[in-house]
Amino acid sequence: MPSCAGVANPRIFAFLLASLPLSAESVTFSKDIAPILFQYCAPCHRPGEAAPFSLLSYEDARKHAEQIAIVTGKRFMPPWPPEPGYGDFAGAKRLSDAQIDLLARWSKTGTPEGDRAELPPAPHFVEGWQLGQPDLVLHMRQPYQMAASGEDVFRNFVIPVELKETKYIRAMELRPGSKRAVHHANLIVDHARMLRQRDGQDGQPGFPGMDVETEVSGEFDPDSHFLFWKPGSPPQEEPQDMGWKLDPGSDLIVNLHLQPTGKPETVDVAVGLYFADRPAKRFPMLVQLEHDGALDIPPGASRFVVTDHLKLPIAVDVLAIYPHAHYLGKQIDAWAELPGGGRRALLRINDWDINWQATYTYRDPVSLPAGTTVAMRITYDNSENNPRNPSHPPKRVHGGNRSIDEMGHVWLQVLPKAAGEDDPRLALQQAVMLRRIEKYPADFVAHFNLGAVLQAMGKFDEAIPYLNQAILMKPASATATNNLAVSLLMTDKIDQAIQEFRKSLTLDPGYQDARFNLARALIAKGDAEGALAELLIYLKAVPDDAQAHETAGRIYASAGNIAQALPHLRRAVELQPNDSAMETNLGAALAMAGNFQEAITAFETALKADPSNQTARENLARAREGLEKK
Ligand code: HEC
Repeated sequence: MPSCAGVANPRIFAFLLASLPLSAESVTFSKDIAPILFQYCAPCHRPGEAAPFSLLSYEDARKHAEQIAIVTGKRFMPPWPPEPGYGDFAGAKRLSDAQIDLLARWSKTGTPEGDRAELPPAPHFVEGWQLGQPDLVLHMRQPYQMAASGEDVFRNFVIPVELKETKYIRAMELRPGSKRAVHHANLIVDHARMLRQRDGQDGQPGFPGMDVETEVSGEFDPDSHFLFWKPGSPPQEEPQDMGWKLDPGSDLIVNLHLQPTGKPETVDVAVGLYFADRPAKRFPMLVQLEHDGALDIPPGASRFVVTDHLKLPIAVDVLAIYPHAHYLGKQIDAWAELPGGGRRALLRINDWDINWQATYTYRDPVSLPAGTTVAMRITYDNSENNPRNPSHPPKRVHGGNRSIDEMGHVWLQVLPKAAGEDDPRLALQQAVMLRRIEKYPADFVAHFNLGAVLQAMGKFDEAIPYLNQAILMKPASATATNNLAVSLLMTDKIDQAIQEFRKSLTLDPGYQDARFNLARALIAKGDAEGALAELLIYLKAVPDDAQAHETAGRIYASAGNIAQALPHLRRAVELQPNDSAMETNLGAALAMAGNFQEAITAFETALKADPSNQTARENLARAREGLEKK
């Protein structure tokens, strides 16, 4: 702004004169204001959406003109917390200085309507599902009744996944039942259906908590996408080859921030899923920067700082970023330090407001070479001067998932660049878990996951000490005990492995993976009878496992019990058709039973599936001879 003192300067005086005709032109709703409101405000400020009033008509806008000038001047509206110049985001909702100036002048000059002929076409919005009818719509088990008034509610609801086969999801959309009450939502995939145990324990549907963490799972299958939704923002669509995986037998946990609206509301979330037309070929991974363990904010502290960093062992493209803190978070900064020196800003938010939290997708992926360090710095204000402080007077605050606790996370969605044969996510996960152990030397999850990563890399020897540590920290973990046993088995410590598989089954008799593995270990030890006994128990619980049927069939056949072998071998090829080895084994058992006709069909199928299968070829010749002799 030119200062008044400047008027004495003739050159500035001349400049002001020259600009006068421009500012004299009147700002009208039709010509100047409607285009801004339609584009930047109407997505939320229209009937049925999250904002408290509409901004679609001249009347609507006129009534709120002064407020509009104030909130846009402060950049409170449209809500877009990231600072310009720190990351270039798709769909950035930031008004230019010129647009803010127009809104202010319109308010000051009597809000003229102008010529209606100059009005732009009214914005068009899709009602209902934004991307059309979803392929699958899943529902909360029970609706939740939200009180008319009171505190914000942070609650999680279980949504069983009704699927017969694994699907890859390219987009997800929520219909919350009440748009005004549901402020935002995060979806968490609970592969092992562990969290449903907490459902309804306090007598109401769902369970409380601002953030949830799922149990570790035995498989390496890291989260890949931000499953974030908020009213008024369009659903994010992934490329067809980059969908996220959803398995039958899992639960979706919908984590909701609910706000009272002044009347009772029914929250009944429907999750719409859009399937990708093919399985994923590109696998992003979510990498978290955080140090919640360092959160110990004294009352009154206005600049408490938490930092974290991670050195990337591989090159990645950063696709998106998701910052998260609760009410005391003030400034959030994330950046990358390049290996050759130099720094790239990833995000800065100067006035964090949990109410406007969002995920941000880079307009163009940010390419970072191997050896880059990504870092975050979050500042907290626990003083009386922070208007969002939930505690009066301020209290000492630690990390935790209630709204009076704090958190500080910067999640990056990165697409690792393939280097060689190995899944590049493994090296990244290894770095993440090593860093986690640095921060939390006694952390079970870090030791467990590091063990799992080393196993997935085939480094079974190296995995053993981490899994032993994990078990020391959580002796009752059947999953960790099973994983340890797998490493022992793979490094030929068979007796020890058998002992650990048995221990895992004592800890959780329903843990079928451990039982199948125990059978494998018993076979390795030469105890076919013991293995068969375990397999038969396993098959009662998991009747459709082709591998288990095949193994049981082979054990029966080796003992000369063809009558018992055949049903298992038949079931195996039924469950897994065109498997050359399985067809060969079925054929061999059939031939041993004297059923040459069927045996020939099986060997032929085996050869069709794999023409290089020599055993099948020789067996086929012998079976044809057998048929002739008959
Ligand atoms: C992402 C959705 C969204 C967008 C986009 C949006 N608003 Fe809002 N707006 C809201 C919500 C929600 C509230 C209520 C917020 C609250 O009470 O804190 C609100 C409140 C307001 C208020 C009342 C503020 C107060 O202090 O009570 C004004 C004025 C306003 N918006 C103007 C605008 C204008 C002008 C634009 C476009 C330039 C805009 N909004 C864009 C969601 C939005």
